[in-house]
Amino acid sequence: MKVLVTGGLGFIGSHTVVELIANHYQVVIVDNLINSKIGVLNKLEEITGVKIPFHQVDVTVENTLKAVFKQHGFDGVIHFAGLKAVGESVEKPLAYYYNNLVSTIMLTKMCLKYSVGKFVFSSSATVYGEQESPLREDLELQTTTNPYGETKAISERILSDTAKVNPGFAVSMLRYFNPVGAHPSGLIGEDPKGIPNNLMPYLTKVARGLLSELSVFGSDYDTIDGTGVRDYIHVMDLAEGHVAALSKLDQGVKIYNLGTGKGTSVLELINAFIEVNGVNVPYQIVDRRPGDLATCYADPGKAQKELGWKAKRDIKDIVKDAWRFSHTLV
Ligand code: WQD
Repeated sequence: MKVLVTGGLGFIGSHTVVELIANHYQVVIVDNLINSKIGVLNKLEEITGVKIPFHQVDVTVENTLKAVFKQHGFDGVIHFAGLKAVGESVEKPLAYYYNNLVSTIMLTKMCLKYSVGKFVFSSSATVYGEQESPLREDLELQTTTNPYGETKAISERILSDTAKVNPGFAVSMLRYFNPVGAHPSGLIGEDPKGIPNNLMPYLTKVARGLLSELSVFGSDYDTIDGTGVRDYIHVMDLAEGHVAALSKLDQGVKIYNLGTGKGTSVLELINAFIEVNGVNVPYQIVDRRPGDLATCYADPGKAQKELGWKAKRDIKDIVKDAWRFSHTLV
């Protein structure tokens, strides 16, 4: 089975490429390199031992995308490519709505035109808005506090409405919680361009001495120790979840949470990182970050029941693998 992976040189995309090839899928990657590095391609070929066709393509541009579909003939698409910084989306709404929605529309058009019957979409727990955890897939989507979250919710609607009137087009939408960690080889991991927005890449750079101190955004939440609680899922568990979703996708519209079902606070994560890796992580408690929730974690029961998938790795695996990869960071 031949699969197009958009954003396949990015954090989650690259780890999913490794898992797809390990499960004997043929993979083609498109990526416009806006938030990824071409050097990841060689690392992927080193890990998998196979040559991977790559096209530097912006998936919002119809004619270059059409050429890729025409050249290869795909059985499925996994769509990761997208802008994903919540805070940035508030400052640049048009860029987020254009990029994230036009890419989904273009890819859907190409799938219908070239009879590609399976579409797996990288969605996000952000679509649940401020609803109470544990979060379940049958909850109503809530308008999110940021354009990024809106682009995920609208993309889900585009895909499900299209699948309803095109029986040969099946869609699986995967709502991630907090993807973290790295491939155990240490060759690929989370390496965003510029100063990281998310906790784990920032924390890892502080531990490496590349950034001076971690700011902990608030310690007065109604949680176990006052700091924010999230559902941190190892990126390799996430990659395995994508392969499970693709292999089980036959018709209609499926929606799954990909999370562990466990909440971990910021301080718990920091302490685990220090303890497991024997390193120091200087931090200070500062004011809350606007828009942050106190607690957010999944009810992962549906994916376990229908996909036979469950996260296997824990916080210790996450901090160990993230630290091993961090030696490549600059
Ligand atoms: C986690 C916790 C912060 C940075 C976002 C998106 C979500 C998904 C994952 C795409 C919170 C605290 C953070 C820092 C801190 N992205 N924190 N200091 O906000 O849960 O989720 O990224 O799908 O859609 O919303 O992730 O890593 O930014 O924050 O204290 O320097 O760490 O307050 O409690 P978040 P995060």
